[in-house]
Amino acid sequence: MIKPLRGMKDLAFEDAAKFQYFIEKAATVAKRYGYSYVETPILEDTALFKRSVGESSDIVNKEMYQFIDKGSNDVCMRPEGTAGVVRFFISNKLDRQQGKFKFFYYGPMFRYERPQKGRLREFHQFGCESFGEASVYEDYTIIELIAAIFDALNIKYALEINSLGCQECMPQYRESLVEFLEKKKEKLCEDCNRRITTNPIRVLDCKNPHCKEQLVDAPKITGSLCSSCESDFTKLKSLLEQNGIEYKVNSNLVRGLDYYNKTAFEFVSSDIGAQSAIAGGGRYDRLVEFLDGKPTPAIGFAIGIERVMDLISLPEEQKSGYYIGVMDSEALDYAIAIAKALKMSETVTVEYTPRKLKAHLKAADKMNARYCMVIGEDELQNGTLWVKDLVEKVEDTLPQEQFLKRNKL
Ligand code: HAM
Repeated sequence: MIKPLRGMKDLAFEDAAKFQYFIEKAATVAKRYGYSYVETPILEDTALFKRSVGESSDIVNKEMYQFIDKGSNDVCMRPEGTAGVVRFFISNKLDRQQGKFKFFYYGPMFRYERPQKGRLREFHQFGCESFGEASVYEDYTIIELIAAIFDALNIKYALEINSLGCQECMPQYRESLVEFLEKKKEKLCEDCNRRITTNPIRVLDCKNPHCKEQLVDAPKITGSLCSSCESDFTKLKSLLEQNGIEYKVNSNLVRGLDYYNKTAFEFVSSDIGAQSAIAGGGRYDRLVEFLDGKPTPAIGFAIGIERVMDLISLPEEQKSGYYIGVMDSEALDYAIAIAKALKMSETVTVEYTPRKLKAHLKAADKMNARYCMVIGEDELQNGTLWVKDLVEKVEDTLPQEQFLKRNKL
């Protein structure tokens, strides 16, 4: 028996309903905030991810679904959505136009990680990317947008924010951090040691408890921000406070992708186990330029859909639609014709096997239909229809034309 690959899942039944419910809610909120839908290919040039997510990141280093295709191209299944949307933004020359562009997307992402609860190799993200707006009000607004999505779905979260500084203040900070880390070298894990040279701020994010202990006194980026980063960060905090969005500053929050600067944030849930990040994002003002576009400030986020799935409760399903049954197979053609007309506006299920009235009513009830229509000999001969409303518990026999007219068909 062939099973799905490790870390990959089929999506069906209640989970499928939750997935669609999530997308519907999230897309509605994103559209309200001015975002429009974009879909980019799952497969992209490997160089795109190397240059954006970064050669020093775990994603590019260890987790890419990368291969050479039949045309000898080095390609990669996208590990995240931002790089593709930025590539789309540049290849469509939107960077050459004045203006603001906001896009939302959702779909599968692929990372060759060690699977565990909340960590898959194929997972789905819902993301938003906003281009052309450097104001810190946009940083606040995008955080507000994520909070609005979670509020619409009744999902509880804690928000962590940080500022990663900019070209002006980050290099200096990096230097003082490296100086600190060099002194602790022997006590840090292998990964941290490698990162001291490749990407030292990622050391702050190490999950190893021994390393964490060593890092308690590490210099904090929030203590070395330049005046522009400092004032934006202060403004962001006050906007969050003014608008009732609770947050905590986590100066070790550095994110696993290399393209960020200034604002970085994560939404975490305490109800889903160790993989607690349900959304992450931040500013990436240099990425467009880095991928050969015209310098354009940008900010975005992505929500991990599988991680929020367990936190979603679907609204109780209301009885709806029609169940049509026949008492004799001769009535089937009539049933099919009525069903075709009804399907213009209703969900309709036709049971092809003839049964007694009681059995049909039971089946209609079981499938949560609002109306049960049963066609017997009388209905067939007289051109009438018998319908029972299973909510109001009333039944009616009426001529076919009248029924269709009543249903505006
Ligand atoms: P990320 O933090 O790598 O950011 O991923 C965003 C979210 O995707 C995570 O918070 C988590 O919920 C979910 N996620 C990540 N990896 C897995 C996995 N293996 N299994 C299940 N869920 C996972 C990004 O991807 C950025 N592109 C976000 C962004 C958009 N930044 C700016 N714009």
